Amino acid sequence: MHALAADELVIVPLDVRSQRDIEDAADVIASHGGLDRLVNNAGVFEPSSGLAEVDGPRMLEVLRVNTVGPMLMAQRFLDLLRPDARLVNLTMPTRPIGSLTRTENHAFVASRYALNALTKMIAVEVADTGPIVAALWPGYLQTDMTGHAEKATPLEEAIPGVVDLIERLGPADHGSCLLPDGSHAPW
Ligand SMILES: NC(=O)c1ccc[n+]([C@@H]2O[C@H](COP(=O)([O-])OP(=O)(O)OC[C@H]3O[C@@H](n4cnc5c(N)ncnc54)[C@H](OP(=O)(O)O)[C@@H]3O)[C@@H](O)[C@H]2O)c1
Repeated sequence: MHALAADELVIVPLDVRSQRDIEDAADVIASHGGLDRLVNNAGVFEPSSGLAEVDGPRMLEVLRVNTVGPMLMAQRFLDLLRPDARLVNLTMPTRPIGSLTRTENHAFVASRYALNALTKMIAVEVADTGPIVAALWPGYLQTDMTGHAEKATPLEEAIPGVVDLIERLGPADHGSCLLPDGSHAPW
C-alpha cells in the first residue's frame, strides 16, 4: 500500500480489541484534521455446525472483534468525522429474528445481529446532525474468511461496486443495511 500512494497514505496499525490502539489512531486522525469515511472492516469467523460445537471463550473473542470493536471505533471517532462523513460497518444482512432458520456459525451470526442493532442505535442517536451511518453487506466474496470459495465473487469484481456504494450513500440510507445492489435489507 505504501508503494501505491507513497506520500498520501498513512497506515496506522490498529487492533480493534485494543483501546490503546484506538486512541493512538484517533490522535493520528486528529492531527490530520479529521476523517471523511470510517469503514469498520475488521472481522473474524468462527464455524460451528450446531449448538454443541459452540466454544464460549472463542465466541467472546468473535464478539470482541466483530461487535465491540466497531462500536468502540464509532464511539471514539464520531467527533473526528467531518461534515458529510460516512460511518459504515461491514456486516451480513440479518433477517428479522422471527424468520431466522439458521443453525450454524453461532458466534459469527450473533456478532452480526448485535452489530446491526448497534449500527441502527448509533444512526438513531446521531440522527440528522451526524454522519450517514449504515451497515453494508459487500456480497459473498473471495477472501481468507470464505476460503477463497470458487462460488464467491472475486475481489476485483466486487470492491469497485462496494466503494461506489459507500460514496453514493445518502440520507435515505441512514440507519439501513445495504446490499451490494444498493437496496436495503429488511432487518
Ligand atoms: N468475505 C465475505 O463474503 C464477507 C461477507 C459478509 C461480510 N464480510 C465482512 O467483511 C469484513 C472483511 O471480511 P473478509 O472477508 O475480508 O475477511 P478476511 O479476509 O478474514 O479479513 C479480515 C480482516 O479483518 C482484520 N482483523 C481481524 N481481527 C482484527 C482485529 N482484532 N483488529 C483489527 N483488524 C482485524 C484482518 O486483519 P489481519 O489480516 O491483519 O489479520 C483482515 O484484514 C468482515 O467484517 C466480514 O465479516 C465478509
